[in-house]
Amino acid sequence: MRVAAFSELVGPPEGVELLEQDDPTPDAGEAIIDVEACSLNRHDLWILQGHSAMIEGDELPFVSGLDPAGVVREASADAHVSEGDRVLLCANQACGVCDRCREGPENHCESFSLYHGGFAEQAAVAADRLVPLPDALSFAEATALPTAYLTAWHMLKKADVTAGDRVFIPGATGGVGLAGVQLAGVLGATSVGTTTSESKAERLRDFADEVVVGRDPADLVAGAGENSADAALNHLSGEFTNVCGRVMRTGGTQIVCGRTAGESLDQLSAPFFLSQQEILGSTMGTQPELARLVDLAAEGAFDPVVDRTYALDATGEAFADMETRDAFGKLVVTP
Ligand SMILES: NC(=O)c1ccc[n+]([C@@H]2O[C@H](COP(=O)([O-])OP(=O)(O)OC[C@H]3O[C@@H](n4cnc5c(N)ncnc54)[C@H](OP(=O)(O)O)[C@@H]3O)[C@@H](O)[C@H]2O)c1
Ligand SMILES: [Zn+2]
Repeated sequence: MRVAAFSELVGPPEGVELLEQDDPTPDAGEAIIDVEACSLNRHDLWILQGHSAMIEGDELPFVSGLDPAGVVREASADAHVSEGDRVLLCANQACGVCDRCREGPENHCESFSLYHGGFAEQAAVAADRLVPLPDALSFAEATALPTAYLTAWHMLKKADVTAGDRVFIPGATGGVGLAGVQLAGVLGATSVGTTTSESKAERLRDFADEVVVGRDPADLVAGAGENSADAALNHLSGEFTNVCGRVMRTGGTQIVCGRTAGESLDQLSAPFFLSQQEILGSTMGTQPELARLVDLAAEGAFDPVVDRTYALDATGEAFADMETRDAFGKLVVTP
């Protein structure tokens, strides 16, 4: 089979190479899927750029890709899936036996990790991590869900967002950001999204209730409105932490899941404690939450936004488009 592998931690588009590898065979509990689509996440880009502690040079070539969607080609005897099933992988890997796993939710597992290997024609996956896909959902739409939409959904739940709430989302044009905007709407909340790009703002206005275009923190606070939001979804960190704090009302909840704009949370302490706010960390979500999102998307509660699809041999270009911020919603490789 062909895979798009990171052969060097440089680039993109350099560093991504099309390689031939042996077809996988299923171990106990595994299924092999013919991958029809696998979306990009910034997590993959961190690895390719050498900014992830996960991968060392001696593990190259490395096949990334958290979110394969496809058709079961073969399954081990103990796997509860059948050849021909349309499926979507939940990338979560939890041990199932540690105290945090037993207590739940599963994304609190002490050795929590993620599947990698979707940028390939075939993927060997844990069969019990496969979610059935209704025909109403294309593979390209489905692969948008497991990381970006699941993370945003879990963040909204963690912030206890309900109908009528106002949610602030800086960087609202990418995977997690746009998912947050759409899913806030599914919950009956209103959203305020920001972007630095006038052209992406034009598209964002179709989804968010309010759009603020700008880069300067003071402009973002003024545009979104000080003390105006009940919750904030922060996948950027850095100075956006303080921006979220200022846009939120007293007692608001900020959920942090990423570090695109900084390795630390830059938050002034006095406004933080005086405003009685909370800042909580969040990573991924649970498999039942993903199954719920699949149902909601299949029912038409929201349409996962796929900006562009790329052939497997154009995976490097896809990463270059992500790096230059030339994407609205999700970028998807279709092996
Ligand atoms: N903890 C978890 O479980 C989890 C799961 C998923 C993602 N994440 C993290 O969440 C973040 C977003 O991931 P993603 O896949 O959604 O990424 P993405 O699609 O590349 O996000 C693009 C968005 O980020 C904004 N952006 C990019 N670079 C920026 C910068 N330097 N300063 C300000 N805004 C910037 C863009 O703004 P413009 O519109 O202005 O271009 C755009 O709105 C990443 O840090 C990722 O690692 C964490
Ligand atoms: Zn565990």
